[in-house]
Order: sequence, then C-alpha cells, then structure tokens
Amino acid sequence: MTQPDIKKGLAGVVVDYTAVSKVNPETNSLLYRGYPVQELAATQPFEAVAYLLWNGELPTDVQLAQLRALERQHRHLPADVRAVIDRVPLNAHPMDEVRTAVSLIGARDLAGSGSVLEATGTPEENLARGIRLFAVLPAIVAYGQRRRRGQEPVEPRDDLDYAANFLWMTFGEEPDDVVVDAFNRSMVLYAEHSFNASTFTARVVTSTLSDLYSAVVAAIGALKGPLHGGANEAVLHIFDEIGSAENVTAWLDTALAEKRKIMGFGHRVYKRGDSRVPTMKAALDTLVEHYDREDVAALYETLEREFVGRKGIYPNLDYPSGPAYNLIGFDTLTFTPLFVAARVTGWTAHIMEQAAANALIRPLSEYNGPDERHIEGYVPDEAVLAVAERAEEAAD
Ligand code: COA
Repeated sequence: MTQPDIKKGLAGVVVDYTAVSKVNPETNSLLYRGYPVQELAATQPFEAVAYLLWNGELPTDVQLAQLRALERQHRHLPADVRAVIDRVPLNAHPMDEVRTAVSLIGARDLAGSGSVLEATGTPEENLARGIRLFAVLPAIVAYGQRRRRGQEPVEPRDDLDYAANFLWMTFGEEPDDVVVDAFNRSMVLYAEHSFNASTFTARVVTSTLSDLYSAVVAAIGALKGPLHGGANEAVLHIFDEIGSAENVTAWLDTALAEKRKIMGFGHRVYKRGDSRVPTMKAALDTLVEHYDREDVAALYETLEREFVGRKGIYPNLDYPSGPAYNLIGFDTLTFTPLFVAARVTGWTAHIMEQAAANALIRPLSEYNGPDERHIEGYVPDEAVLAVAERAEEAAD
C-alpha cells in the first residue's frame, strides 16, 4: 500500500488563489493588493488600507471621507456589549473578552434572519458587517484595558480619525502625533498576511456558508495562540524576564539550553527576515526617542544580535511591535486584542473573497488508530440490515 504524502501543518501546500495580499519570502516583500506594505504604512491612514483590502483599490478622498463617516457612526461601545464584557471575569484573557463581544454583536445583528442561509449574507451585507466590526473593535479593546485598570470607558471623539481616536478611547488623553503615527503604522502592518492560521480559519468557517461573525469569532480563537498572534504579548514577557541588555547573554544561554522558543523570532514563511520588521522597528525607534527610553532599544538590539547570531532565525513583526505597544502605554495583555482590531480588515476581505468563489474546505486524513474491532455481544438490528440491503440493491 502506498503511503500518503502527509503535509503536516499544511506546510508548503497551496490551497487557493487570493488577490488580497502576496507574501514573497524570496524578495522579502509583502504586497497588499499590489502595494508594498512599507509604502502603505508610511503614507496611508489605516482606514484607507482597510478600504484597499476590501475593495481592491485605495479610496479617493470622497470614498475615504465616506468610510470615515461610517466608522464614526459605529465606534461607540454599545451598552449591551459593555454589559456582556462586564460579565467576563476580570482575570480572563482579554482575547476571550473580545471573542465574546464579537459573538454578541453577531448574534444581535443576525437576530431575525430566518435561516442559516440568510445569515450567510450578500457581498454588500458582508462589507457592511466588516466595516461595523472594524469600527467597533477599538471601543471593545480600549474598554477591556480600562476596566482591568478600574476605569470607566471613554467616549469617542468625532474630531479624531481612527488611530488617534483609538488611543484617546484607551488612555483618555489626546495622543502626540509621533505616537499616532507609530500606532497607525503598526495597524497597517498587522492588517493582512495571506493564508496565516487565523485567516485560514476564517476561510474554513466561511466555506461552510456560515456567517461572517462566526468566521471572525473562530479567527480570534486561532489568533490567541502564542505561535500566532499571542507572540507579541509573549515578547514582552521575555523582555520583563531579561530585565536589561546586560542580562541577555546569560538569559539566552539558559533559554536555549532549555530548548525554549524565543517569542518574536522565526516565521513559517519568511526564513530570511520578516518584510514588516524594518518599518515597525523604525516606528519603535521614534517612540524610544519620544519617551526617552534608550534602555528598551538596547535590550531589543542586544537580544536580536545574539539570537540571530547564534540561531540564524530572524525577528518577526511581533518583536518590534511588542515593545512599541508597551511604550505607548498598552498593557501587555492588550497586545493581541490590538492585533484583532487590525487583522479584522484582512479577515473580512478574505471572508468576502472566499464567499465569492467558494469551495468547501475539507481535507483528508490518514487513519492511524486501532484496527477495526467490535462491541461484544452486538447483534445487528434486522431493520437496519434491511435498509442497508435495499440501498445496495438500488445502487446496483
Ligand atoms: N526560538 C527558538 N527556536 C526556533 C524559533 C524560535 N523562535 N523558531 C524556530 N525555531 C527552531 C525550531 O526549534 C526548529 O528547530 P529544530 O529543527 O532544531 O527542531 C526550527 O527552528 C524550525 O522551526 P519550526 O517551529 O519547525 O518552524 P515553523 O515554520 O513551524 O514555525 C513559528 C514558525 C513562527 C511557529 C516558530 O518560528 C515559532 O514558534 N516562533 C516563536 C513564536 C512567534 O514569534 N510567533 C509569531 C509568528 S509571526
């Protein structure tokens, strides 16, 4: 019997086309709808990048203004969502809170749809749902951090665009431009990355003709894992463990001897460096200067130099974004929810793409469990045998 070629972890398997983004490990580049991500991060507000991912083109001024108006309409924390968040234990992980909040929003939005088929939605309905989630997620993430600090939510401000308003709702202070710019860049860089685990999860759920909210909830679950989105949070835990640059060598000796994975390094696709890192590292540098925290840069650079030198494994986007979010003032536990707020744009673009040219995603597996065996004393039911016989006759 020939052995099947098992692609564990689907590594190297191409499962479909996508026009949303292109990851090219050879040239170390990432394109969103054809545009290099570093060019988008340097020139575009996150709202424009969201528009690009959904629609395939950057918005005109009028289109951007329309999206911004819609975003402002839906950026308030709805009372029922706040009430549900308040039911989530304070010591639960905020990703559980975000997942629960999105689940409620979906249930509320789809209430009254007569059947599961109706919930699937038209392309227009799904775009509107995607925009609503994109708009409301900052309120959910900001409130999550605030309630853990014993603070009330902050009402959004109509005079601020997405990134500045997100920071405003989190901290209740008008942010400096340099901070808004670094934060905006991080959102752009996190927005999309082809068939990563959470996006693929969203596409699997969509492929069953389930609804957009169910796909996003499932994607949030996939993103929570430390091998995926949870890594930016894990980077800060490592920084906390190490303390300062002079401890790096001894810490790394022990960590490598214990065969620990160093979070924020390595990537399934990029093997010679993550294309998003230079842009995010430059944003981190502006924050280091703004907050006068050379110690952070020293720890960052020492760990990178030593780990890359010893293992030849390069940093991924989570490595610079973790310390950047920390400097801005986000709690470590809020990092992965920030990733959700960014990646919901890519997820929903993929959900719409999957729905537009759907094929049920259902791979095969090779059984390696016990050989066939039987329940002692089992006597086949005559009625069942008769049905099986009739089915066989019909098939002949
Ligand atoms: N620290 C230490 N060793 C690492 C490593 C890391 N961050 N990343 C990869 N390696 C080593 C593995 O131990 C393995 O070594 P081995 O061949 O001696 O067993 C080898 O490199 C290949 O790694 P593997 O985990 O099989 O590669 P992958 O493509 O399946 O994994 C990641 C990619 C991202 C899951 C992996 O690099 C990782 O766990 N990184 C840390 C988590 C992280 O930052 N995730 C965010 C991704 S954007």
